[in-house]
Amino acid sequence: MTSSPPSPADRVCPLVKRESLGGAYALLTFEHAGVAGASAGQFAMIQPEAQGDLLLRRPFSIMDTDPSTSRFTIFLKAVGPGSKAVFDLREGDNARVLGPLGRGFTAPAPGERAFLVGGGYGVAPFALFSRGLREAGSAFHLFYGGRSASELPLVGELERRGIPLTLSTDDGTRGERGRVTVPLMDALSLVPGTPRLYACGPEPMMRAVAEISSEKRLACEVSLDPWMGCGLGTCLGCVVKIQDEGEPRPKNRPACTEGPVFDARRVVWEKHS
Ligand SMILES: Cc1cc2nc3c(=O)[nH]c(=O)nc-3n(C[C@H](O)[C@H](O)[C@H](O)COP(=O)(O)OP(=O)(O)OC[C@H]3O[C@@H](n4cnc5c(N)ncnc54)[C@H](O)[C@@H]3O)c2cc1C
Ligand code: FES
Repeated sequence: MTSSPPSPADRVCPLVKRESLGGAYALLTFEHAGVAGASAGQFAMIQPEAQGDLLLRRPFSIMDTDPSTSRFTIFLKAVGPGSKAVFDLREGDNARVLGPLGRGFTAPAPGERAFLVGGGYGVAPFALFSRGLREAGSAFHLFYGGRSASELPLVGELERRGIPLTLSTDDGTRGERGRVTVPLMDALSLVPGTPRLYACGPEPMMRAVAEISSEKRLACEVSLDPWMGCGLGTCLGCVVKIQDEGEPRPKNRPACTEGPVFDARRVVWEKHS
């Protein structure tokens, strides 16, 4: 799933499908042959062509790909000017898309179970990752959490794909009541062996999953989402602190080229965004 991803290509490409998921959420499908070959956990930098301002390009995870039609899909939450500009695109509009970028998730070893933990827009890469896990015959389960039912807009899409899913909300309006780590801990106490954990979402959630992995001595990858300017390792706006084995102290690493997915044990947690 992470082997030889295509080199990034910077293209103007059309938005071929736009599906509103209500509120600030939408699924957007673009035609871009390079990004359509992305692996799970990689991302693309996107802005409307009409905007013409490179600085406003924003990173979005690849939620799905279809190499046969050169299409890829993102799950977008409009939060500020950069994401809203992409959200406002209409079918047929052009966008400037650079990708695929970054390093994605490592596939579990044969026979190893994968537990995926997603929250907010961080659940997006797990749609593509789940597809690869299923094709590889790996056992996996997705834990999808949010503050309330309205913050789980991707549920229908994930169910339609037949992804084994446990939902949780802080206020109990959908799925189990409480943090997403509660059903994760329950599942960890029930399954045999040592599942591999993957987390993508708000930083406190990823930290909590990283702590669980450390306590239980489980392998764990997290997908960090610092602010990104170029996506190519040149502006250094996205550096995160990573402690490499054998190094006396942590080093600043660009998350856009060396991540966004990192081994949770190497991440020095601080405010990344
Ligand atoms: C690797 C990566 C993958 C991403 N994938 C997706 C995705 O699949 N779907 C999606 O909707 N978004 C995704 N994002 C986040 C998206 O890029 C940001 O929402 C966008 O950059 C915000 O820009 P803006 O101009 O809209 O808002 P800004 O004006 O920059 O920010 C608006 C508000 O959002 C907050 N904010 C901005 N960026 C982040 C962040 N990274 N994390 C938490 N809060 C933030 C700001 O603090 C501010 O309160 C991803 C980010 C990264 C780094
Ligand atoms: S976004 Fe510019 S170096 Fe990572």
